[in-house]
Amino acid sequence: MAVEPLRDLRAGRTLPARDYWDPDVHAVERAGIFGREWLCLGPSGAVAASGSYLAECVAGWPVLVVRDAVGELRGFHNVCRHRAGPLVDDGSGTGRAFVCRYHGWSYELDGSLRSARDAGLDPEELDGLGLLELRVAVWRGLLFVNLDLDAPEIEEWLGEGFVAQCAAFPMETWAPVVRQTHPIASNWKTYSDNYLEGYHIPFVHPGLARAIDTSSYEVHVEDGWIRHSATTREGASTAGVWLYHWPNLALNLYERGMSVERWLPTSATSCELVLDYCFADTSDAAAAENRRDLDSSTETCLEDKAICEAVQRNLEAGAYVDGLLSPRHEAGVADFQARVRRARAV
Ligand code: FES
Ligand SMILES: [Fe+2]
Repeated sequence: MAVEPLRDLRAGRTLPARDYWDPDVHAVERAGIFGREWLCLGPSGAVAASGSYLAECVAGWPVLVVRDAVGELRGFHNVCRHRAGPLVDDGSGTGRAFVCRYHGWSYELDGSLRSARDAGLDPEELDGLGLLELRVAVWRGLLFVNLDLDAPEIEEWLGEGFVAQCAAFPMETWAPVVRQTHPIASNWKTYSDNYLEGYHIPFVHPGLARAIDTSSYEVHVEDGWIRHSATTREGASTAGVWLYHWPNLALNLYERGMSVERWLPTSATSCELVLDYCFADTSDAAAAENRRDLDSSTETCLEDKAICEAVQRNLEAGAYVDGLLSPRHEAGVADFQARVRRARAV
């Protein structure tokens, strides 16, 4: 269902500045948004083989995804049931069991408790002390987790329209070539707001502004996802589809590959921008062109990081309380902020 931005947004005000630094607001969003929605972990290749696992801290939630002994994909909190020790360090690896790094309790790859090393506890006292589960899914070569065991299936959550937009691109055949991580000294929503409008492009991205016709830039707001479009100058590497899905995922799809972009809160006033660049052709012949695409994307990211950090400083400074959104350019921002308000109210 498309949102009708103009009518809704004529008098649209931004979220208050406090929402961008208050730790109490952040705690509510961490549980109410990141604790409920599907969260992308990037390309799924790291958990293709039995015994392979991937661990990552997502919005403060330590998650662990493993392909178990019979080939089933499983997700757990990376938290031992004894006294909350970590089972594995963040990153990927392979193993036949998880042994907690604190006192050595061990778990099977299916999450069941194998042994409570030398604890002196009776077996019946250990009943039900398997790892805490979470949902996991692979869609089009991308790995997702969801902390909410009652969440809808991934495709239903993504939405028919979003899935259809991606259908023309052979995403799962593209090879992940490099991951770039940019720490950003801003609230995660400062980056979302920025991603969701093209209004800033002529001022913040001179290189990108030369590659596209900025006056043709449009943001199409759908139900839970957003598509950016712009007329591109012939041959520009930016020709493609830029898709955003609530709350923190963007797929920037081009003829020659894609970047899978997500931004993860690390505190009330910081986040981490993670980009996985995947290319159709990874041969030496394509290396120079891939490098050019990567460099121009990095330039755009660093420009966005700089402006988000400057905005964040001003949001925290105290003079600004809230502002007015542009009905012409900021329908995506308004929709995002309405979702934030709604999620926090539940
Ligand atoms: S916390 Fe894991 S064994 Fe003690
Ligand atoms: Fe930008």
